[in-house]
Amino acid sequence: MNRSDILYWLCENRPEKLPKLWQWANRVRRENAGGEIHLRGLIEISNHCVRQCAYCGLRHDNRNLERYRMNKMEIMESVRKAVHLGFGTIVLQAGEDPGITSEWMADLIRRIKSETSLAVALNLGERNERELAIWRQAGADRYLLRFESSNQKLYQKYHPARPFQTGDRFDLLRVLKKLRYEVGSGIMIGLPGQTFDSLIRDIQLLKELELDMVAVGPYIINPETPLGKSWAEHLARPEFQVPNSDEMAYKTMAVTRIICPLSNIPVTTATASVGGRDGLEVGLGRGANVFMPNLTPANYRCKYRIYPSKSRFSVDDFDSLSHLRFRIKKLGRRLGEGRGDSKRYVAEIKRSIFQELIS
Ligand code: 5AD
Repeated sequence: MNRSDILYWLCENRPEKLPKLWQWANRVRRENAGGEIHLRGLIEISNHCVRQCAYCGLRHDNRNLERYRMNKMEIMESVRKAVHLGFGTIVLQAGEDPGITSEWMADLIRRIKSETSLAVALNLGERNERELAIWRQAGADRYLLRFESSNQKLYQKYHPARPFQTGDRFDLLRVLKKLRYEVGSGIMIGLPGQTFDSLIRDIQLLKELELDMVAVGPYIINPETPLGKSWAEHLARPEFQVPNSDEMAYKTMAVTRIICPLSNIPVTTATASVGGRDGLEVGLGRGANVFMPNLTPANYRCKYRIYPSKSRFSVDDFDSLSHLRFRIKKLGRRLGEGRGDSKRYVAEIKRSIFQELIS
């Protein structure tokens, strides 16, 4: 897909035309990522955050949020639940929380890796190279860091830098690659001020970065944030502004699947939140092959409020898991077994082993 193809599909709104895009994405997914749907158990280990992202409910200055940080015992309990339910991966997610120190986290990762055969994915914000290396050494397999928008002006407007720090997420993504993590990134769709032009550039970058995991989700207005209070003032001219609708998120996801055929692509929580009751099925039929049910204990889950009406889809017992299995079977798909590494990563590892053998 070139630039004008991407633009064509992003702007296509005729209901009789869109099924062609959905079928295309679904076919590319089937032929490249396969028929399996991989589940990742999501554990939101802390909602503390030092950052001030203008759209996010976890931002430091949001005083309407009771903060928590799970202790290791609580986290291990959720980890065991993931094993018990047959998940192959857990995602440990938090705000950018300096209370999560490199040693504390490394110890937790080592504990998980020695007690289970789970793949461990981290989503802990911008951390420095030393910490990322320690966690990789401790056994972490994957790291997720969305760049959100590649438009510098837009990015800087909504993501104030920390004092005396220049966090460049593209630099960090390169560091993660160098450390041989499986690397995930992603973007937000429909941020006020985001133009089609800049969204196309974002999508092309998702390809150029050779990512193993790509997450796209719509911007959801959070009235407890500065952007949520004034979003209308920041919109681009109507003909240029990308809408933050569920349909726009699905179109972006479908296009992303077509241009990143081997990557793992989740139905993001944001998409499931705006996509209604069958948002999961719809997403899985338009290019996605991953879903991340929430395993955070209920008393904490309700406090991880990045935006209102966050999808509460959780799978914390066998009943809800078999219900999910039933929904997936109805789609003619099946749950994946094992870690569900990205096909791109597996191919790269095979290539490098081969290179070593012949050199
Ligand atoms: N709408 C949609 N996604 C959001 N995130 C944070 N706030 C919002 C919002 N208001 C997403 C960002 C971030 C992840 C933690 O949650 O993509 O990377």
